[in-house]
Amino acid sequence: MRLLFELSKEHTTLPTAEVLASLIAEGIDASVINSNEDVLLVETETNDDGIKQLAERLAFTFMIDELLFCCPATIDEILQNAQNHQLSSEGSLAIRCKNRSTHIDSEHLIDQLGDIYTKNRQVNLTNPDIELRAVITDSVAYLGIKKAGIDTSYFQQRRGHLRPFLSPITLHPKIARAMVNLSQVKKQQTLLDPFCGTGGILLEAGLLGVNILGSDIEQKMIDGSQKNLDFYHLKNYRLYCADIGNVARYAAAVDAIATDFPYARSTTTKGEQLTRLYNRAFETISQVLKKKRYAVVGLSNEDIATIGEQYLSVVAIYPVKSHRSLTRYFVVYKKD
Ligand SMILES: C[S@@+](CC[C@H](N)C(=O)[O-])C[C@H]1O[C@@H](n2cnc3c(N)ncnc32)[C@H](O)[C@@H]1O
Repeated sequence: MRLLFELSKEHTTLPTAEVLASLIAEGIDASVINSNEDVLLVETETNDDGIKQLAERLAFTFMIDELLFCCPATIDEILQNAQNHQLSSEGSLAIRCKNRSTHIDSEHLIDQLGDIYTKNRQVNLTNPDIELRAVITDSVAYLGIKKAGIDTSYFQQRRGHLRPFLSPITLHPKIARAMVNLSQVKKQQTLLDPFCGTGGILLEAGLLGVNILGSDIEQKMIDGSQKNLDFYHLKNYRLYCADIGNVARYAAAVDAIATDFPYARSTTTKGEQLTRLYNRAFETISQVLKKKRYAVVGLSNEDIATIGEQYLSVVAIYPVKSHRSLTRYFVVYKKD
């Protein structure tokens, strides 16, 4: 089947990268047919369970559809293709349109598609058996059947100020989840965050069924992380108060690392010069990470990524504007 991922426009490359890493993490073979800022289209043999697992993971995708057809984004082309692509299953229908084009009128398109697709079936806008989705970009129209929706309010409900322990260093849960996904960690594998702060990355990994291991130099952060993880009823965690240089005493051969380095603006480095701290951090990461596995690291400056290259290979860099109008650079490293 051809699966269509309707992507968030919050970032140009991160949403696609998150889907591709999650497909690997879920063990789903897929080949990319088309990829742009609006959608990712893949060919895959996965089933409903696989789609459900993906929907539970993803932070920067809105919807996963089974593609019916795609064509140039003109009303004539869309309607002509729709005539040739009838729906195979029975049941009531709703037609919805995500229109990112400047030249097509959504209501007009839905009316016209309604004439084709609702001839012998009931319309049910609130609880349809089938949701037909038209995703229209300036150049291409994609028509698909909704397979799964991603409830992004789920991430909003876990924002820092809604957790028992808060600090300004807390990452937004969507970013934390995307970092976990980029690490390609699978359920029941172990993910380490050696600068865990309030535990935001650990929380997102733990909610996916990953075993989580966190450490931080500050005892108050460890206590706070514990409060946050308990608040979400997570059990599969271990936390240690440790300097980055001592992490190997607690962690060995971890499957994935996702972490946000301290950057001396709102976090402590205990007076240590950042370059030295980062060198020690990358050394530890390369020591405790299994071979061929990934570490996703949040940095305040793209140039710092090169420090890590002495220990690991850079796979990709994603600059993301944070809520404090700072740009963080999320760098995916691989241990060779
Ligand atoms: C940017 S914060 C991490 C924020 C975290 N991702 C969150 O969502 O809350 C960096 C953390 O690194 C910790 N830290 C600073 N120096 C450290 C060191 N030498 N060893 C271990 N942790 C350290 C700080 O206490 C801080 O909690």
